[in-house]
Parts: sequence; structure tokens; C-alpha cells
Amino acid sequence: MLVIESFAPRSAPWRALLDDREAELLAVFADGYGPANRGDAIHRDRLRTTMPWIFVASGPDGRMIACSYVQRSGKRAAMAVLPGFRGQGVAPALIRRSLADLPDQWVEIAGPDVVHQRRYDRAGFRFETSWAHAAGLLGPLLTPLVTAHSYRPDGSLTYSRHAFTPPRREHHFVIMIHGSPADRSANDGRNYLVDEA
Ligand SMILES: CC(C)(COP(=O)(O)OP(=O)(O)OC[C@H]1O[C@@H](n2cnc3c(N)ncnc32)[C@H](O)[C@@H]1OP(=O)(O)O)[C@@H](O)C(=O)NCCC(=O)NCCS
Repeated sequence: MLVIESFAPRSAPWRALLDDREAELLAVFADGYGPANRGDAIHRDRLRTTMPWIFVASGPDGRMIACSYVQRSGKRAAMAVLPGFRGQGVAPALIRRSLADLPDQWVEIAGPDVVHQRRYDRAGFRFETSWAHAAGLLGPLLTPLVTAHSYRPDGSLTYSRHAFTPPRREHHFVIMIHGSPADRSANDGRNYLVDEA
């Protein structure tokens, strides 16, 4: 049986999760993203400094098998399922659980990753169709990294931007939206420093 728990930022269970099970959380992300890329350090820093919502899936024996976190702004930041548990709907279950707490969300997805895009489509996300809105979501620290944007035949937005961290490679992205995530262009950018979906 799959159990999914939601941890509201700075609540007592949230603090206990980070104090008692941080190593377990980081191990799931390190497995998902690879230690050389987004292993422990980046997620440890993000979890402690931006204080996102955290969603944890556990298997029948209580072992953590997947986790995800979503910034309070609604930006989806990271999601990983342990290799032995993939392809069984764990990620969609985590997404659904997160939407119960945070109905206004958005996610930046690599343009070629149609499997991921289909996963969010099934969860009710829709492609962003406005660069003006996307720029507001991305915020002042990321929009300068965007080199070009255009619209696909179906009207959805696509853009290329440099990675925030060295070697700052350029990638194509789309944005998918659920509900009405707020335009954060007036924000100080703090939420964006740490994110790269
Ligand atoms: C991306 C990820 C979170 C998806 O988790 P998941 O629980 O396997 O998601 P789903 O159950 O929706 O996966 C089903 C899809 O995976 C594919 N799949 C099936 N078995 C699989 C397996 N054993 N391993 C991987 N993918 C499999 C299926 O083709 C299916 O695609 P479809 O819905 O188009 O048919 C997970 O693969 C992962 O942790 N990847 C590494 C980290 C990452 O890339 N995170 C996403 C970026 S934020």
C-alpha cells in the first residue's frame, strides 16, 4: 500500500521530517538525479532555505520510496521515485496529493520530455500560452537567461534559456500550469534562485 504524506512549510511535522529523515529524503533525490548533478547538497540547501511544501510517498514497510517538493509560490521544484518503484503511478499520486494542498502550481519542463508533459497533462496541467505570464512566473533572476521564445502551432509557449548554474548550458523548455499561479515578477526572486525543474 502506498502512503502519501504532505508536510506544510515550517509545521512541526515538516521540521521533524527535516531533522529526523533528511538523509532519507536526500538519498531519494540523489538516486533520482544522480549525485554528480543534483545530489545531496542542492536539495539540502533548497529545503532549508526556501522552506517548500514537501510530499513523501512510503511503501508498505514504511520506507520512503519517493518525494517531491513544491515552492510556496507554486513552482514545482523536484520529484524523484526510487528506481524499483517507477512506472507504477507513484509520481502521479504525489502530484495529485500536492494539488490538494496547492491547487495553483506551475512547472518548467524540458521541451523534448513529452513523457513528463503527458504526466502533467493527465494531472490537469495545461501548457502556458503567454510569454508575458511566463516571464512573471520565472521572475527577475531567470528571465535574463532566456535567449528566445516562440509559439508552437497549438499556441503553447516554448523558450530557450541558459541554466542558472555553470556551465550554463542552453535548453528548450515549456511551462505547464494548474490553476492560477501568481505572477511573481514583483518578488525579490528568492524562490527562483534555487529552481530548475
Ligand atoms: C520522472 C519520475 C519521477 C516518474 O515517476 P513514476 O512514478 O515512474 O511515474 P509514472 O508512474 O507516471 O511513470 C509512468 C511512465 O513511466 C514509464 N515507465 C514504465 N515503467 C517504468 C520503469 N520501470 N522505469 C521508468 N519508467 C517507466 C511508462 O512508459 C509510463 O509512461 P506512460 O504514462 O506514457 O505510459 C521518475 O522516473 C524519476 O524519479 N526519475 C528521475 C528523476 C526525474 O527525472 N524527475 C523528474 C524531473 S523533476
